[in-house]
Amino acid sequence: MIDPYVLARPILQCFDPETAHEFALRALELNFVPSQPAVGDARLLTTLFGKPLAHPVGLAAGFDKNARVFARMYAQGLSFVEIGGVTPRPRVGNPRPRVFRLPEAHAVINRMGFPNDGSAVVLARLKATRAPGVLGINLAADVESADPIEDFTLLVARFAPHADFLTLDVSCPNTTNGQIFLEPVRLRELLVRVRALNVKTPIAAKLAPDVDEERLDALVDVLLEARIDGIILSNTTRDRPSVLVDPNAKEAGGLSGPPLFARSTAMLARVAARTRGRTTLIGVGGIASGADAYAKIRAGASVVQLYTGLIYEGPSLVTRIKRELGELLSRDGFPSIVDAVGADVS
Ligand code: FNR
Repeated sequence: MIDPYVLARPILQCFDPETAHEFALRALELNFVPSQPAVGDARLLTTLFGKPLAHPVGLAAGFDKNARVFARMYAQGLSFVEIGGVTPRPRVGNPRPRVFRLPEAHAVINRMGFPNDGSAVVLARLKATRAPGVLGINLAADVESADPIEDFTLLVARFAPHADFLTLDVSCPNTTNGQIFLEPVRLRELLVRVRALNVKTPIAAKLAPDVDEERLDALVDVLLEARIDGIILSNTTRDRPSVLVDPNAKEAGGLSGPPLFARSTAMLARVAARTRGRTTLIGVGGIASGADAYAKIRAGASVVQLYTGLIYEGPSLVTRIKRELGELLSRDGFPSIVDAVGADVS
């Protein structure tokens, strides 16, 4: 059968990326997007924070910022979904245009600045819709907040009963408050306050690729000290690899897609070597094939997430990744995906 996204993509790409994304969300809300086939490969079974997953491929934050379509995304082949980033209060974000395609590189630059409906509206949607699978909620401080720690504690307390895991997004490249916790002392302050809430829901932190190795090690040590349940590597990068030829490459914001792959995977491998199984690692950044997902898993990720690949290839990408993961397990003689986690960690 012909992949409907092959027909939809040229039409979507006539529009500004945010408008195209809104069309995709509407189509999902209206249940116009055909489901992807369920995987029948038992070797891909795994877990995330103790919850069973049919396979290790999930949806990254940013796609469903306002919890409008999360319940539909499992039928699109994803085993877990992270909604958000959600801030305490509603936000309009930065002026448009603020999302740019780099078609040559199959990449995206965004400087959205957390436009979202705010925690009250998102919470109401979550209460009204049961997630048919594992659900994460990505939390962020308000851009102009005078007390970003207070923002995070409010969000954790509010959303903990409604999520299988919460993510502290301490790595948004587009806002000042998005970056302040990339300072180890500030990160420790935040984690002490969050841990004092004593919530049972697992808590992960999402890091940026734009920190040097010394800083990264220090941040990871702080996260381990706070017994963080998971680390997500990585957010988008402010860096621009010199190979980028798209005119949009000069736009300010965070770069995602294949040009982020090597950097985020190297970061993941370094963190895996430092954490040695003491926390769950989630690999994200530039996944566009089963081989990319497999490389992140071998570098130490228990599960992976993607977003930009879906913009260029549509949901059939998820089905292809799962098939290719199965083929790679056969090639390398791993009985299951769980056996491949960290295979390359020295
Ligand atoms: C994102 N991403 C993101 N991450 C996050 O923690 N909170 C957020 O609100 C957003 N918002 C967002 C919007 C847009 C338009 C994009 C493209 C990305 C980052 C995303 O979750 C992921 O970490 C990166 O995009 C890298 O993965 P991919 O896209 O290369 O698979």
